[in-house]
Amino acid sequence: MSAVMHAAAFRKLKLPCTYDLFDVGEGDLGSFMERAGKFAGLNVTIPHKVAVMEYLDELSREAELIGAVNTIKINGGKRGYNTDGVGCTRALEENRIEVKGSKVLVLGAGGAARAIVYQLALEGAEVSAANRTRDKAVELAYDVKEKTGLEIDVLDFNDATIKKALSESNILINATSVGMHPREDETPVKKNLMNPDLVVMDLVYNPLKTKLLRDAKDVGCRTIDGVGMLVNQGAESLRIWLGVKPPTEEMRKAVIDELRKGD
Ligand code: ATR
Repeated sequence: MSAVMHAAAFRKLKLPCTYDLFDVGEGDLGSFMERAGKFAGLNVTIPHKVAVMEYLDELSREAELIGAVNTIKINGGKRGYNTDGVGCTRALEENRIEVKGSKVLVLGAGGAARAIVYQLALEGAEVSAANRTRDKAVELAYDVKEKTGLEIDVLDFNDATIKKALSESNILINATSVGMHPREDETPVKKNLMNPDLVVMDLVYNPLKTKLLRDAKDVGCRTIDGVGMLVNQGAESLRIWLGVKPPTEEMRKAVIDELRKGD
């Protein structure tokens, strides 16, 4: 999706750039990074987001806090960033939802959840986290507290606790992989636990209309699909690499066209 999305941005901005994909084996990261001086920048994905940090000269504050890098700017030296968290909060802002002061329940404690929880907390949201493996959420909350002094509430992942938390929250974000193709009938939160005052955001973008978002719509909630964060994390990478204003509408359209091809 990133290749399609950035190609659309370069076309719109009339920039003579390309975005290529490299399948780098786990043992080949060092030699790849040695040869990376020819690029203006890189995106990094699983399984290299943490390991790549040892090849960088500098880290942004977010990348340092989150402990993972998804974007690198190369300009003599190599500086690492993490745009996943800001991609999520920009997607909320794009939908005119204020992050500061809002109460957010984040489901999950994996890589994506980690970035989002940090960013939401740094932007002044009141964050709760619930994860199937509770210990991982506890570890994340401990880490946030130690590095920033900010408190994250850890909740049990059961119906009664989630329902109560949602009755007191403004925003629900699914940062688990539940509902992703091919298990499209699954959802992390049952329909009867949601209420119409919630904004429900799913990071899963395949399918675009997950069961969680379909249920949330039925309940009367506002919904934000996973393309929102995908586009905004990519847009932030573009800004970092090239200092341009990213054409997010064209980027979103390119991703949606590509997703529809798979239908
Ligand atoms: P990512 O980088 O996309 O965040 P990840 O690090 O593998 O991916 O994290 C996947 C998340 O989805 C985890 O929070 C995982 O919960 P566990 O920590 O308990 O594994 C969550 N997840 C995956 N399948 C799930 C399921 N069937 N029910 C609930 N949570 C699930």
